[in-house]
Amino acid sequence: MPVPADLDQYLATHDARIQRELFEYLRIPSVSARSEHDADTARAAEWTADSLRQAGLTATVHQTAGHPVVVGEWRGAGPSAPTVLVYGHYDVQPAEPLELWTSPAFEPTIRDGRLYARGSVDDKGQLFLHIKALEAHLAVRGTLPVNVLVLAEGEEEVGSAHLAPFIASHTDLLRCDAVIISDSAMFAPGQPSILSSLRGLAYFQIDVQGPAQDLHSGSYGGAVVNPAMALARILATLHDATGRVAIPGFYDAVDAWDARVLAQMKALPFDAEHFRAEAGSPALGGEHGRTVLEQLWTRPTCEVNGLLSGYTGEGAKTVLPAKAMAKVSCRLVPDQDPAEIERLMKAHVASVAPAGVVATVTHLHGGRPWRADLAGPLYDAARRALATAFGREPVITGEGGSIPVVGDFQRVLGAPVLLVGFGLPGENAHAPDEWLSMENFTVGMRAIAVLWDELGTGGVR
Ligand code: BES
Ligand code: MN
Ligand code: MN
Repeated sequence: MPVPADLDQYLATHDARIQRELFEYLRIPSVSARSEHDADTARAAEWTADSLRQAGLTATVHQTAGHPVVVGEWRGAGPSAPTVLVYGHYDVQPAEPLELWTSPAFEPTIRDGRLYARGSVDDKGQLFLHIKALEAHLAVRGTLPVNVLVLAEGEEEVGSAHLAPFIASHTDLLRCDAVIISDSAMFAPGQPSILSSLRGLAYFQIDVQGPAQDLHSGSYGGAVVNPAMALARILATLHDATGRVAIPGFYDAVDAWDARVLAQMKALPFDAEHFRAEAGSPALGGEHGRTVLEQLWTRPTCEVNGLLSGYTGEGAKTVLPAKAMAKVSCRLVPDQDPAEIERLMKAHVASVAPAGVVATVTHLHGGRPWRADLAGPLYDAARRALATAFGREPVITGEGGSIPVVGDFQRVLGAPVLLVGFGLPGENAHAPDEWLSMENFTVGMRAIAVLWDELGTGGVR
């Protein structure tokens, strides 16, 4: 079955305008992590709301203690029809290092069918294709088969701290029967994919304080405990020789993975050598005895994200640093709880910290892992819609990244979540030269347009 002609034609006719609008969206540097961009982030929220209004929804920008939450509503299907919520984020990661971009990060540029810009794939481009799919339905047919909510947040890239409370205090507004998210990637070009899991996150800062100030390493070294060495010792206890995380109790809550999902994973054509080369790493590592996809999608980790101590400038300086700091984050899998991991991490660091320094662990942010129950009409509709638009049956994949709010949707709203993403491997999300495949944008937009039809015929749950 092809994409319905009326929707396809509308999107084709308005192609140039849609692209122009997308470029305008991507020009707004809505970097949530940087306060100097707060006005831009607020502007992106307003832009998102205007775009929803143009599509035929009503939209409200809700202020929070952080960046605004945008809610779009179309309830024309009536109170007895199901309601489907689309989630996305309009904030982006910082674009630095700017000099490594081939074209400027906030000047969208198409080269070789790829749209280069910060936020192109993560996530403005993917959120925008949802808005345009809704616009097509409402413009061409004046209606949708179900009620629609669009929830766009501006803090995903900094941990979504204010979104869970917003959801909890707006359960009447946000009550829904299903959630749809496009904020992930396809397994390969031309291969539509449905996500079956996301890892969670527990992010820490470890500070080690030694002497009150930097000291002469000749006059004091050997007698005063060196905080950089103390931190190195602490970090060295985080894994054992087989690559397992060695924090006592870390794996206690890890749930066995469904044998069918594991088998599907093993059947995917994954080339570890290609992955290694793309990562630009001399060799792969990690937990012994596991395939790369198993490591990335089904196993928890503990990684150092940054290190700071002592003299790092030009030449040599003989100094015994006063302090050392590390940013350490754990990716979590079902059913690990970020709060419990925080407790275990703090207890572990306290027990291994060498005498003569003070080690403190601060929890910066966290999010729960998530796993889909792939049965039901929501997933059936997604399979049909993706097969229609891409001409190929979707595969089931996992994901190593995190979208903190997904677990909350399932717990607080009690709604199943569908993750269908249109990124591609090597898309450079969070890195210089982030890109979105224009073909995926075009076909993805049609897939989502078809999905609304499929939800109308097959039901939501
Ligand atoms: N869209 C990503 C999540 C993701 C990453 C999906 C890779 C598929 C593949 C999201 O915007 C993201 O970057 N999440 C952060 C969460 C963190 C900032 C709390 C992540 O995974 O690091
Ligand atoms: Mn994202
Ligand atoms: Mn991201």
